[in-house]
Amino acid sequence: MPLKEKNWLWPLRLGLLLVLFGGILQALPAQAAAISCGECHDQITTDYGHTYHGRAGLAQGFDCLACHGPDERHLNDPSRENIVSYGKNSIQTITEQNQLCLECHKSTPEVSLWEMSRHCHNDVACVNCHKIHSRNSKVNEPAVCYTCHRDLRLAFNKISHHPIVEGKIKCSDCHNSHGTLTPKMLTDDDLNQLCYRCHAEKRGPFAWEHPPVSENCAICHDPHGSRHEKLLKDKVANLCQDCHNADLHSSRAYDAGSGFAKAKRAGSIGFAGRSCLNCHGNIHGSTHFEKRAFTR
Ligand code: HEC
Ligand code: HEC
Ligand code: HEC
Ligand code: HEC
Ligand code: HEC
Ligand code: HEC
Ligand code: HEC
Ligand code: HEC
Ligand code: HEC
Ligand code: HEC
Repeated sequence: MPLKEKNWLWPLRLGLLLVLFGGILQALPAQAAAISCGECHDQITTDYGHTYHGRAGLAQGFDCLACHGPDERHLNDPSRENIVSYGKNSIQTITEQNQLCLECHKSTPEVSLWEMSRHCHNDVACVNCHKIHSRNSKVNEPAVCYTCHRDLRLAFNKISHHPIVEGKIKCSDCHNSHGTLTPKMLTDDDLNQLCYRCHAEKRGPFAWEHPPVSENCAICHDPHGSRHEKLLKDKVANLCQDCHNADLHSSRAYDAGSGFAKAKRAGSIGFAGRSCLNCHGNIHGSTHFEKRAFTR
């Protein structure tokens, strides 16, 4: 049988190689399969040594079959049926593919809640984001996210946006793609805790709190991007008037029917644009001793 003969010869040839390179013989069992695969998959095997798993495998003693196993039948009978492969053309299901990665990675803290993630429930594969045979193991954010979340490319290009395009923050600062205990796979215990991580001054403590602020920043802000200033979900006056009576002092919205001129005529303060904020400047809470309606 040709295979048996081959296997038998392997240690000899390998030994020779290692002696040539003055390498350590300890690496021998781990390398055996890699070199057999290399007979037919030349390029990918050569490059493998420069990949993250190539190096990790050398240190920890695993090889190609850790991911492409379960056994060596494919060496003998090189068909797709005899090997685990990944991606669109794989004959394994996505769950089966992911499961092989999780053999080793369910103990990686960042990945441990995978089974609870929206990505898992929607049949997203590890290899949709991770390129194992690439020298650069970093996930190509945000480009890879946009392949499925197309609307977010638009969001992050709006006039006001978190600086993803500028490279100052990444999706993974706010989301753990492998799942978390928080809705929307946020990287903190809840939405506000996430915002406080980078905007600590909004946590207070304030003498006078504005209830929606401590409740949920996303009542007023879109976390991705907005066509209104400061990531606000709506024009300031409209936003405020979702909750505050429009008949309050000056709080009538600026529109065709009640423009500046008309407002002036009516003797009201009249406002446009930043309006409410001109006077209520400490909208996230006030540290004034007196209660002054968040004015400065
Ligand atoms: C004798 C030559 C030979 C050897 C040795 C060999 N392969 Fe293959 N391999 C092939 C051929 C030919 C195909 C394509 C089979 C097909 O398309 O049906 C293939 C396909 C594959 C695929 C699927 C590629 C795809 O497009 O999905 C993977 C993964 C793979 N081999 C990995 C390995 C690994 C890992 C080893 C070592 C354990 C190995 N091969 C050893 C010849 C070989
Ligand atoms: C940590 C898991 C892992 C290890 C270890 C690994 N591979 Fe792969 N391999 C993958 C994944 C995932 C893909 C799918 C493409 C990608 O993500 O880069 C793949 C794709 C392939 C393909 C198909 C590539 C193509 O373009 O058609 C071949 C062939 C292959 N691997 C061979 C090997 C060989 C040979 C080794 C050892 C030298 C090896 N793999 C080690 C995970 C692994
Ligand atoms: C045989 C065990 C094993 C298997 C199977 C395995 N990995 Fe790994 N992987 C490791 C080890 C070891 C490391 C090094 C870091 C560590 O100790 O967690 C690592 C690191 C990584 C990293 C981090 C790279 C970096 O730049 O920090 C990613 C991403 C990763 N693996 C993804 C995968 C994916 C996707 C699969 C399935 C295709 C997979 N792994 C299969 C053992 C494995
Ligand atoms: C939706 C995209 C996506 C999917 C799907 C995904 N990952 Fe990741 N993964 C990331 C990002 C983003 C990072 C962190 C940034 C980086 O490494 O560039 C990461 C990091 C990792 C790390 C390194 C963690 C660390 O910092 O130590 C491992 C290991 C890993 N992923 C394994 C997996 C495994 C296993 C699966 C499938 C069960 C998987 N990933 C699915 C996007 C993804
Ligand atoms: C500054 C933190 C932050 C950054 C950066 C961020 N997100 Fe989000 N994302 C959130 C928050 C917070 C929510 C939840 C919003 C809510 O519940 O109202 C969310 C929700 C989502 C949702 C759920 C659907 C939706 O639109 O509400 C998806 C999908 C998403 N983000 C993907 C991404 C991707 C992809 C990136 C990178 C291109 C990204 N996010 C960058 C904080 C962020
Ligand atoms: C292969 C497609 C795909 C890729 C790539 C992808 N996602 Fe997703 N993502 C989905 C699907 C499908 C859902 C579930 C449906 C939905 O909520 O839109 C989802 C949902 C989400 C959610 C919402 C979670 C929830 O609880 O509602 C967030 C956040 C998210 N993805 C972030 C990311 C980030 C960050 C990246 C890039 C690192 C990314 N996704 C890459 C397909 C993908
Ligand atoms: C990982 C850090 C980080 C997290 C988490 C974060 N931000 Fe930011 N945020 C930034 C950076 C960086 C800027 C840009 C500041 C600058 O350029 O001066 C910014 C700017 C803003 C702005 C001003 C935008 C503008 O157009 O000027 C608002 C509003 C904002 N963030 C709200 C939030 C909210 C709400 C959350 C929680 C959902 C949040 N941020 C979470 C880093 C973060
Ligand atoms: C009631 C609506 C509302 C809520 C809730 C809210 N904000 Fe704001 N936020 C605003 C308004 C209005 C502005 C614009 C203020 C200005 O330009 O003076 C703003 C501006 C900002 C800015 C940019 C300017 C600055 O002051 O640094 C950041 C950052 C910010 N908010 C973070 C947060 C965080 C974090 C939360 C949750 C803890 C939050 N906001 C909750 C209304 C709100
Ligand atoms: C989600 C609802 C909500 C939104 C949106 C909202 N507020 Fe409030 N606001 C409240 C609640 C609740 C209180 C506390 C109850 C009260 O004292 O009437 C409050 C209190 C106030 C007060 C202090 C009242 C006092 O008696 O001292 C001012 C001023 C105020 N808001 C202005 C604004 C402005 C300006 C905006 C728009 C940037 C805004 N609010 C957006 C819910 C909201
Ligand atoms: C010209 C300055 C100015 C503008 C513009 C302004 N306010 Fe006020 N507002 C005040 C002052 C001053 C008070 C405190 C009145 C008091 O304590 O008697 C106040 C009080 C309030 C209160 C508490 C009222 C109460 O009776 O408890 C709310 C709510 C409020 N403003 C909302 C708004 C909203 C919403 C807008 C924009 C649509 C707005 N304000 C625009 C100056 C202004």
